[in-house]
Formats: sequence, C-alpha cells, structure tokens
Amino acid sequence: MRPELLSLPERFPRSSTYDPEWLLSLDMGPNPLWQLEELWDELGLRPGQRVLDIGPGRGATAVFLAREAGVTVDALDLWIPAEEAAANYRAAGVDDLVTPLHGDVRTVELPEAGYDAIVSLDAWEYFGSDVYFLRRLVAALKPGGVLGFATPSLRDDPYLIDPLPVLADVAGFEVLTWHPAEWWAKHTAMTGGLVDVKAWVPPDSLDLWSRWDEAVGGESPMRSVITAYRELGGTTPPALGLVHVVGRQRR
Ligand SMILES: C[S@@+](CC[C@H](N)C(=O)[O-])C[C@H]1O[C@@H](n2cnc3c(N)ncnc32)[C@H](O)[C@@H]1O
Repeated sequence: MRPELLSLPERFPRSSTYDPEWLLSLDMGPNPLWQLEELWDELGLRPGQRVLDIGPGRGATAVFLAREAGVTVDALDLWIPAEEAAANYRAAGVDDLVTPLHGDVRTVELPEAGYDAIVSLDAWEYFGSDVYFLRRLVAALKPGGVLGFATPSLRDDPYLIDPLPVLADVAGFEVLTWHPAEWWAKHTAMTGGLVDVKAWVPPDSLDLWSRWDEAVGGESPMRSVITAYRELGGTTPPALGLVHVVGRQRR
C-alpha cells in the first residue's frame, strides 16, 4: 500500500484531510471521497439537511457527508451488513448523524419527498442504467432536491464500440453500463424528469483511478486495463474514467 498517494490537497482539499490508511481499509473501488468532492459544490449541502447515500459500502462517503456538511445520512447498502457499517460509523464518531440501512435501492421503501439530496459513488452501475429506475427514486427527493452520482464511463459507448479485450475480461457484461457522459446526461434528464442535468468526466479521471490503484497496491485486475486505456490518449474526456452527474428535482 502507498497511502501517501492519496494526499492531493490542491485538487481535493477536503478528502486530503482524511487518514489515507483508514480510507484504504474501507476499499471497495476507486477513491469514493474524490468522487464525492468532485460533486461537492454542485450538491450545495447545508447542515441539518437529510441525505440518502446509495451504496456507500463500508461507509467512507457517509462519514464524509456527516463531517463535512453536518447533514443526516441514510446510508443504504446491499452487500455490507448494517452492523459492519454501524461499527465504522461509531468508530468515526458520526453514528449520531448516519443511519446504516441494509437493502436494495430498487425495492426498498423510500420516503416520499423525504431527501434534500441523494448521492451514490461507484454503485450506480449496478442499477442506474435501467430506464424504469429513476422515476421511483426521484420521488424520494424534495422539490428542488439534488441528485449526484459517479460511475465508470467509457469515451466510446460500449454498445457501439467494443471495449478493449483487457477490460472485457475484467468486467464482462457489466461493462455495458459504462456509458459516456452524453448518454448519462440524456438518460438522467429523460428517465428522472430532472432539470439542470450536467454530466462530465474530469480530464484527470483516469490518472486519479490509476493513483488509487497504485495506493491500494497488490495484484490489481484494473492495472492492465488502466494502462491499455491510457495508451488510447486524450483527456477531454479520457478514454476511461468516472462520469459525474448532477440533476435537480423541479421545485
Ligand atoms: C463497488 S462498491 C462501492 C462501495 C463504495 N461506494 C465505495 O466506493 O467504496 C458498490 C456498492 O454498491 C452497493 N450496491 C450494489 N447494488 C445495490 C443496490 N441494488 N442497492 C443498494 N446498494 C447496492 C453494494 O452493496 C456495494 O457496497
């Protein structure tokens, strides 16, 4: 492990204040705090607001939301038992603000117009490409509430141009959800009826993914994928990265 690689105070001033070893101990994919901080200004969170975090895994983003914005967080995850997440929230001292919930966002009961914001970092690929998904979810947003998510993205849509074989080997059929930013912008606006939708892949997204991968160390199936996509060149957007999407419920 190379935790020192996670300190990027100029690019990510908030995330860089978090203990990198703590963050790596919660690893389930490329740095979720960087993804959340990239969305941060668009979310415009204020203390006391209520946020749904979908798929926080072991909980780094829910801790960040509670600490950085003073919001209350419903942290809904499918694979990680609520007791395991609860222990992480207690240890981080945010158990008064974060409620771990175990369930599937596609079927769990959600409060009508209950949330000021809904966020999801590196989980949307498991449910978000279904055209019938977002209508039900955005009903849980208050009028004017904001949705923000980040998910893997290819510059060339995987339905139109085959992903490189090295990625197909690692991701299999799941790569079919790794759409480009324009796809996600249209999908989010149309299927959710949201307004002010923006979708972007930061120019340094692939470099950041690589940096996280090096920080985690060990045998990584993504390393050769990252190398192969880097060789395709270009950064606006990079050939592979994480797309960041925001949109707002009408008032
Ligand atoms: C790749 S992990 C990322 C976890 C965390 N966001 C992170 O970056 O460390 C994807 C997460 O999405 C969650 N997830 C997948 N499908 C889900 C669903 N249908 N409802 C709720 N959570 C889901 C999984 O439980 C898992 O924790």
